[in-house]
Amino acid sequence: MFAGRILGQSMKTFSTTNALTKYLSQLRENNYTIGLVPTMGALHKGHLSLVTKAMTENSIVVVSIFVNPTQFNNEDDLIKYPRTLEKDKLLLESLNYTDLIIYAPSATDIYNNEIKSKHYSFGGLEYEMEGAFREGHFDGVGTIVSRLLHVVNPNRAYFGEKDFQQLQIIKKLVKIEGLDVDIVGCAILREQDGLAMSSRNTRLKKEYRIAAPFIYKTLKSAKLKFGTKSAKEVTEWVQQQFENEPLLELEYFTIASTKTLKPIMRKRVNSKYRAFIAAYADDVRLIDNIALN
Ligand code: PAJ
Repeated sequence: MFAGRILGQSMKTFSTTNALTKYLSQLRENNYTIGLVPTMGALHKGHLSLVTKAMTENSIVVVSIFVNPTQFNNEDDLIKYPRTLEKDKLLLESLNYTDLIIYAPSATDIYNNEIKSKHYSFGGLEYEMEGAFREGHFDGVGTIVSRLLHVVNPNRAYFGEKDFQQLQIIKKLVKIEGLDVDIVGCAILREQDGLAMSSRNTRLKKEYRIAAPFIYKTLKSAKLKFGTKSAKEVTEWVQQQFENEPLLELEYFTIASTKTLKPIMRKRVNSKYRAFIAAYADDVRLIDNIALN
């Protein structure tokens, strides 16, 4: 269904920004639409679902693969982050769509030799949850996504709800920078046992992998309880559940407004809420979230 027609017989890979920019500027003359899927590689079906969606909505899809150092607040996490470029290429090839471009630059190339973050104000979104626990994280994400959007200049860019706070921040980023791009949010893909797919899952030792679906199970129960109980009661219940689960260490559980990401004070009839979790399984940090209403 997705056989490519524009770029020829095989998927193209670019490792320099210069070469990609030249190539894309030729394509743009033909009015093709471009979809961008930014990733840090170690691709799984969650990433592929974004790519597939992008393929149905654009003439050409660019998948960027770059482990962005400036968004890691923890050196060890950056070092241990899985890097599997050759396997990633095979996975993308298996989609059988040749109008696909992989952009896998080095840090010095994409950052123009100056590997550091810009500082952003995202209207307060950056102080909550991931922002509170990972200092500088969203400055790093904002910097690299802004750079990717400027280099690729896509019509649409795709982000997963798995990183819901990131998705909201990117929507804010394009407003702040006045970029003409549609930011498309995509549903969370899960393993059969409910664990949200993540590149970090490959680092889980067996017993922790078995324990990890507890995160989503607890989110689903929290959603049910939220129907009749206050956010405070649900939060205390979740904290209690994690105290009884020795393999998982809860970092935060927050019920927040979908729009502002601020923790809920009092339920309001017309407001939308989501529950967010970050937890450690051994040294692997996992995040997940669920819509509550
Ligand atoms: P990465 O963690 O590789 O994720 C790339 C994209 O895939 C993100 O938009 C993320 O939300 C989405 N994704 C990951 N797991 C998913 C799942 N199980 N279901 C649906 N979508 C999923 O997020 C990043 O990279 C980086 O911060 C990046 C935006 C590339 C900037 O460096």
